Order: sequence, then C-alpha cells, then structure tokens
Amino acid sequence: EPTREAGNDEAGRLPHQAWDRYPPRKFYELRVREEDHSFHPNLPRQKIWGYDGVTPGPTFVVKYGEPILVRIENDLPDDHRGFGSPEISTHLHNGHTPSESDGFPGDYYSRDKYGPTLTRAGRYKDHHYPNKLSNTADFPATDGDPAAALGTLWYHDHRMEFTSPNVYRGLAGFYLIFDGVDTGNEHDTTPGALRLPSGVGKYDIPLAFQDRSFDSGGYLYFNQFDPEGVVGEKFLVNGKIQPYFSVARRKYRFRCLNGSAVRFYQFYLVHDGKDQQFLHIANDGNLLPAPLTVDKLRLANAERGDIVIDFSKFPLGSKVYFVNRLEHLDGRGPTGLLLTPGTQILRFDVDREPDEPDVSQVPAVLRPLAPAKAPANVRVRRWEFDRENDQWTVNSRLFDINRPATVIKRGVDEIWELKGKGSWHHPVHVHFEEARILTRNGLPPPPHERGRKDVFELKPGETVRILICFDDFVGKYIMHCHNTVHEDHHMMVRFDVVA
Ligand code: C2O
Ligand code: CU
Repeated sequence: EPTREAGNDEAGRLPHQAWDRYPPRKFYELRVREEDHSFHPNLPRQKIWGYDGVTPGPTFVVKYGEPILVRIENDLPDDHRGFGSPEISTHLHNGHTPSESDGFPGDYYSRDKYGPTLTRAGRYKDHHYPNKLSNTADFPATDGDPAAALGTLWYHDHRMEFTSPNVYRGLAGFYLIFDGVDTGNEHDTTPGALRLPSGVGKYDIPLAFQDRSFDSGGYLYFNQFDPEGVVGEKFLVNGKIQPYFSVARRKYRFRCLNGSAVRFYQFYLVHDGKDQQFLHIANDGNLLPAPLTVDKLRLANAERGDIVIDFSKFPLGSKVYFVNRLEHLDGRGPTGLLLTPGTQILRFDVDREPDEPDVSQVPAVLRPLAPAKAPANVRVRRWEFDRENDQWTVNSRLFDINRPATVIKRGVDEIWELKGKGSWHHPVHVHFEEARILTRNGLPPPPHERGRKDVFELKPGETVRILICFDDFVGKYIMHCHNTVHEDHHMMVRFDVVA
C-alpha cells in the first residue's frame, strides 16, 4: 500500500492517455527528499528540499520526439518544520504534457495524503512526457521539422497554495530538449545542425537565478502567508550565493532562468566598467528566428533566455560580471528603475585558453518562423488580471480547483487577450501549449518575443494578444500568474480541454 502510485481510481478520470500514441522509451526516477546544502561558505549548512536531494534538481537531457516516463517519489518528512508543504505535484514547465501528468495543483500526494483532484495517496506518481509539440497547422511539429523544437524547459513543484515556498525550499530543476537542428553537438557536421556551443555542464550551462532571504542565524527565511511576497536580498545562481564560474576564452551558451517567486531581473554583461554586447538566441523554450545582438536580458518570473557570450574577446585574466540593475522592492513588480552599478550576481573568470579550437557557431538563422497570423473568425477570450479587495483575481474570480472557468475545444485556434489591470505586474503562464504573441498593446511584439512563448509579461495596464491552440490531449489544465505568491493566493484559472 505505501508504495503504490498516487492517482485516481474513479471511472471517468483519465488514465495515462498518451501511453498508446507516445509510448515511453526511457524511464527515470527522481526522489524528492530533504538534504544538507551549502548556500555559501559563510552560512550554516542547512536542509533544503530537492529532487534527488539537490537544488537545482538533476538536469534532464532528452530528445525531441522521444517520450519518457518519470517516476517521482516523495520522500519528504511529513513532520517537517518551517514553511512549505511536504505533499508535492511536479509540473514540467513548457511541456506538451497529458493532463494527468501535468502537475495539476490539486494532484499533490505523499504517502498518506492527497489533493482534491486525486482519489488516492501514494509514495510516487508517474509522469509521462511525450517531448513533442502538438500537430496543428499553425504549429507544425514533426520529427526533424526545423520549426518544431523545444529548448530550455524546467520542472518545479506546483502544490496548490504552496508552490512558492516549495520552490523556494529548492524544488526546481532544468529539462533540456535537443532535436535534429539544435543537436547539442558543436562538432555535428550533419547538414542543418546549428552547432551552437554544446556540452551540458561544459559549454552549455543552465543558470537558475533565484533571490533568497536569510534570517539572522543564516537560515533560509520565507513568510508564506504574506500575500505580497518576499523579495530576497541575496541572489542564488544554481543554489549558490553570487558565485563565480571559471571559463575558457571561447563561446558559451547560457540558459538563464528566472526561478524567483517574485523578483524580475534585467541583466547586463560588464567588463572593465563597460557594458558588453552578447547574443540572445532563445526566449522561453524555443530558439528565436534569428540571433539578436543585445546589451541586456530581461526576465520575468519563469521566463528563460538563452544567450551566447564569446569570452574570446576578453583578455586572459579578465573578470566579467553578470549584473542585475532592475530595482524590485515588493510584490507589485519591478519599479522600472535601473540601478547603477547594480548587483553583481555572477562573476566569470576568464582564466584559460580552450583545450581545443572553438568550432561552435551562432548561425544568422536559427529557427525560421513566419510572423504569427490569426485565422479569420477566430474566437477571442479575454482574461483580466487584477487585485480586487486585497485578492489576486482573474476575471474578478479566485481559483476554483474543482470547476473549470471555461471549457475549450481541442484543436481549435483561439486568441487570448491578456490584460493587466491595476498597478501590479503579472507574468502570465499558460500550461500545455506554447503560443505566439500577435500584439503587445496593439503593436507587433519586440523581436525577442517573436518566437514561441509560454510566459507573457503584463506590465500594469498592458494588453497582450496571443494565438494559441490546445491539441492532442484532453483534461484539466491551468493558466496563472507566475509570480508564485500571486499564484498561491489564487491568481489562477482552471480550463478543461475537451474532444
Ligand atoms: Cu512554471 Cu504553472 O508553472
Ligand atoms: Cu501576478
């Protein structure tokens, strides 16, 4: 009994609906458990929660079109102290995932407790990830189709009302998908292979940026009952406070993730007191149509930005800094002020020549994508994100876990109009499918938002129109503000996809 899978026994609920169409070809196991961690040599070692006991969790490296099954065991102590909940529900953020594996907030489980949308507890739950996009006309996706890749995804806890404390305690990790174009091998001479800087952990580096607070004893601090959220004064990169990274004089790909609950970032690359340019190659889970030469990278919560930095332009012995200049004081969102000099979050020590010549490239064309265009007579749904009577609302309502706010037909294009009301920022995330931004405040989106996306930053008063189509699977899904404090306070909508 205690080793059974958490899930649903009731007739009519969904069994693993992708099993026949996308039979899993690999099987993984993750154990969520409490483990010792050091944030910094000057702070006491302390317990964090991690997938396999580490934070960030293990990085998945998977192939597009190769479905996998991930068994996630919950070994968290049920008598834990402090913030967070020891029941978990894991979401693969940006995954095209069948409903029953999507980490629905009510699908949380432990050995003897379970959420309102499950009917039995269990020590583990199996998650089926097809590693594919859907097959609709606007989003063509077949193996090897150059328009059909996913890149930097991440997985994190999504337990109802406790997502922010659980992620804050450590429950997040990276999930990278490679395909026949972005092959993850800079030596790949197959025609069409992009040959971006490669080797996960070597020249292709996921970087999770997360702010944290520590109490006077040096222990992680979080007030999960403050609906405004906590903005931390320390900055973690992959679980360490403001660390350094030693690099060779060559190109690196960095997959930057804003894994913070509340804080936004605007990063600059600084050498010798001067801002440096770098290449922005992907936004959220997809390569951009073409690389952009930029001097900053802005990331709202849960957004990813892949960049390439060429360290060969810096002399040996250089110190190059990744600096955040965006002021962010509370749960409303960034103030918009840029602080100088800002905070040095990560230091790159350019301390060696590469072992072998750098053969990696950043081609002028990455992932060609025609501008998004909505078909005629498409249905428009409107969603307003606001704060009313001290509550975070979507269309003036709080999250109802048991009933869908709306029912959506599978395989039909829709326009969603997302509107930020009031004076708060809301980075909106839609589960299950990526979308294309049609307009931002009536205008075409800026170049870095022209790929497929799954997070849509709404500044106060902004309106973003996206083209979206939910295909393949049916069942319950969600859209929510990815300021996870807003999310935990019910700024979330359940929508059900039906055949
Ligand atoms: Cu990154 Cu609903 O989650
Ligand atoms: Cu919000």
